[in-house]
Amino acid sequence: MKKVIIGNWKMNGSHALVDALAAQITPAAELPYTGLVCPPFTLLAYARKTLPASLFVGAQDIAACEKGAFTGDVSGALLADSGATHVLIGHSERRLYHQENETTFSEKIQAALAQGLLPILCVGESHECFDKKETKSFLRAQLHFALPFLKEKAITLAYEPLWAIGTGQTPTLPMIQDVHSFLEGEFGVAPFYGGSVTIQNYQDILALGAVGGLLIGGESLFPEKFALILQGKAL
Ligand code: PGA
Repeated sequence: MKKVIIGNWKMNGSHALVDALAAQITPAAELPYTGLVCPPFTLLAYARKTLPASLFVGAQDIAACEKGAFTGDVSGALLADSGATHVLIGHSERRLYHQENETTFSEKIQAALAQGLLPILCVGESHECFDKKETKSFLRAQLHFALPFLKEKAITLAYEPLWAIGTGQTPTLPMIQDVHSFLEGEFGVAPFYGGSVTIQNYQDILALGAVGGLLIGGESLFPEKFALILQGKAL
């Protein structure tokens, strides 16, 4: 199975950025990885229309409810209609700034599955937890609610240590391998790694056995560099 490269644009991007990325990847190019771009909602349909068919398009969030009077929310049906096939759920920024919790995540996972969208559940520990060497017990507890989904192989996982997101700091390769092997052994999926992945370090991280792919924030906003990553190339 191909490993997966995901670009999480967060609250960034523009039609011009979609165009710039599209210009870097020839439609017929054989990509070594499964590529997925997660732009803001407003760019989903345009990204689907503009990017080569070899790249998937995904959302960064989904409404827990199916439809109705929920001003500002975007349902799974709307996402699917815009061409999205995947959705990030439980990103640490959703947990922190929107107080989302396990109940919400469960509902959002079900909302995504009901529309045939593949949920990517994000987990990760704080620096304090990492320092105390409690990462594994923390992750086990954090994933407890998702066991039924994991058992059915209905979701994939992204491991993103909070202290590595947007900081330029990453765990060492043996540390990443250790946590990913643990998660794979415990939950049966090889998680994607996220947190300060760059054009310089992505190949080494992706080469680790238990790393199923990469979730890339900041670096995915540079079309030349992100296109090189999607094509398995170096600078
Ligand atoms: P980063 O973000 O690559 O900028 O660290 C990753 C993420 O939050 O998904």
